[in-house]
Amino acid sequence: MKKIGVLTSGGDSQGMNAAIYAVVRSALGSGLTVYGIRNGYSGLIAGQAELMDAKSVEGIIHRGGTVLGTARCPEMMTDAGKQAAADSISRLGIEGLVVIGGDGSFQGAKALSTGYGVKVIGIPGTIDNDLGYTDYTLGFDSAVAVVVNSINMLRDTMSCNDRTCVVEVMGRDCGDIAVFASVACGAEAVCIPEKGYDPHALATLIERNALVGKKDNIIIVAEGIRSDGTLDKGHEADKVMNGILHYLPDLNIRSISLGHLQRSGDATVYDRKLGILMGDHAVKCLLEGKTDRVIGIRHDVVFDEDMLTALAIPKTFNEAMYALANSLVRY
Ligand code: ADP
Ligand code: F6P
Repeated sequence: MKKIGVLTSGGDSQGMNAAIYAVVRSALGSGLTVYGIRNGYSGLIAGQAELMDAKSVEGIIHRGGTVLGTARCPEMMTDAGKQAAADSISRLGIEGLVVIGGDGSFQGAKALSTGYGVKVIGIPGTIDNDLGYTDYTLGFDSAVAVVVNSINMLRDTMSCNDRTCVVEVMGRDCGDIAVFASVACGAEAVCIPEKGYDPHALATLIERNALVGKKDNIIIVAEGIRSDGTLDKGHEADKVMNGILHYLPDLNIRSISLGHLQRSGDATVYDRKLGILMGDHAVKCLLEGKTDRVIGIRHDVVFDEDMLTALAIPKTFNEAMYALANSLVRY
């Protein structure tokens, strides 16, 4: 193997830059030529690739976003799109491709491998932590840190006004960001897709807290809370707030959606380290001639696993963490 490519695809996440850094530096250190492909599969199809040297990735380890750019590319779902992507790869002479993204991006990589013989390795880059095969995805820890820091700030104004605040967080259909943030900031309640929610129970909790003098509450709501098809990202916090107001019409309450802030700002030390370990591991896989592998971390050990086997592993919900989130905040 002499030439490899690296791209980021789907929703960006903190830690992607650390992974790019490690892929480039590790590959250069092993004598490989590395192309950085711009804007995910869109850039690949358009042949937007640049040669990377050590300087290209200088100073990026900590930065959120992705220096390569990212995109969602519907064309990659078509036969013509896959063919165009494969044509670009062969024009550039790329033999191995590292794809940093979520499960959708891995499907694109798999198609390039199965249909066109490109060696592909996937690195899980998404804040959602919604992949069953790995304990953590790149960006999750940083997104949780943003949520926790934001709620720490919100507490200042909510507590001096005796207010309840409903805070919507990201995660698609996965409640991990909500639950981990809830534990780390002592939220009074957390509502997640895996468990559903009941406005009446929330109203009862708020009343019970008030009886013991606790009049400010933080209620974290995961954006994927509705499984009935009425999901309305960015407005779920309002809906939960209105559900509570139905039972407590005079309640002093506000709502906020943290939105894309959660994908912004520096990566945490954990995500920097994870990105570097995974990027380096991906290059080692390619050097060993491996393909169709995804990188993960389990019990603090970075590993690679067959892509389809890994993607078939269902995400298990962390019941213990959810129980902790609820038990520690009882008055
Ligand atoms: P993520 O990678 O974060 O899960 P998406 O599901 O939006 O994000 O997928 C990112 C991109 O991966 C898509 O825009 C598309 O270009 C490509 N992709 C997703 N699914 C497939 C598929 N089944 N076949 C080929 N490419 C796919
Ligand atoms: O998958 C990552 C994610 O940030 C989800 O948590 C969120 O629902 C979605 O992407 C937002 O997508 P976009 O950046 O396209 O608005």
